[in-house]
Amino acid sequence: MSRTFYLLVALSVFGSSCVYENEESLYPRLAECDTVSVTFSGSISPILVDNCLLCHSNEKADISGSGIRLEGYSNVVIMQDAIRNSINHNASYSPMPKDAPKLKDCQIRQFEIWVDSGSPDN
Ligand code: HEC
Repeated sequence: MSRTFYLLVALSVFGSSCVYENEESLYPRLAECDTVSVTFSGSISPILVDNCLLCHSNEKADISGSGIRLEGYSNVVIMQDAIRNSINHNASYSPMPKDAPKLKDCQIRQFEIWVDSGSPDN
């Protein structure tokens, strides 16, 4: 047996383990993500309360949030496009949450689902 043969066997064994990973094991957080019952009060508001109102509440906005208010439905609706770009870290927007890790994939997905469904006040 040549060295090349062993190399090919090794490649086919180790190479195949990557190919058969399914989506669930590659993206466990998205697989567990509730993308069906997304609401403003149950999904979106808690994300903003936990990650954004530290700086963007009505009280704090002028001190640490550059005057941008993200407290309550009407403020969030006005800012929805900028929020979507900021939490996705899209070019030409300030990445948010500021000085903190990016939101979880599921949280970003839920925000997008809420916007794409017409940003209902539910
Ligand atoms: C530590 C304070 C802080 C936190 C936490 C924070 N922000 Fe900000 N945010 C700011 C500041 C300050 C600015 C002004 C721009 C800058 O300094 O980057 C800003 C700007 C923004 C903008 C405007 C960005 C643009 O380029 O137009 C949006 C939208 C925004 N924040 C959304 C959010 C969202 C959504 C969260 C939570 C996921 C969040 N922020 C968390 C401080 C914060």
